[in-house]
Amino acid sequence: MKTLVKATLIVAAATAMASPALSDPLEDAITARRGYYQVILSNFGPIVGMAKGAVEYDAEKAATFANTLQTLSMLNNGHMWPAGSDNAAMDGKPRALPKIWEDFPGVQEKGQAWAAAVGELASVAGDGLDALRSKVGAVGESCGACHDTYRAKSF
Ligand code: HEC
Repeated sequence: MKTLVKATLIVAAATAMASPALSDPLEDAITARRGYYQVILSNFGPIVGMAKGAVEYDAEKAATFANTLQTLSMLNNGHMWPAGSDNAAMDGKPRALPKIWEDFPGVQEKGQAWAAAVGELASVAGDGLDALRSKVGAVGESCGACHDTYRAKSF
């Protein structure tokens, strides 16, 4: 009897834990990768602001944002791109184009170019506004290169 109660409790607990995961795994992956990119933007945005002179340059802040960006560039996000989570399959919800799944090496190449540009930015971001400016453009271009090829212009 005791065992049965225990087993029932375990099943109940497992069900309770599983219920958030009952949401669509494709939707979850899309939410995760969009969150990931929002965090990227929240670190890159202020750096662009400093480069443009819209935000006052602060060496410590610039270095922190750039280092965080570099950490983000090192995260494995492969699981956020399950097959079938493209904008054609999901009725325009995500912006990821089907081309991503047809050309993984191309996506990886763009991702690596981005990570390399971010690495260069992180190595100089705290060394003064001119140093920061010299590396920001390449990062922005690497974001754009991937978006132009693999992201729909709109939802
Ligand atoms: C290797 C490709 C790649 C690189 C590099 C990349 N992105 Fe993206 N990004 C994407 C794709 C694909 C999406 C669309 C995701 C979706 O909706 O399915 C996206 C979406 C976004 C979004 C929208 C998130 C939302 O809420 O829908 C933002 C913001 C963004 N990226 C910012 C950036 C910034 C800033 C950089 C550079 C610092 C960058 N991305 C670099 C591929 C990339």
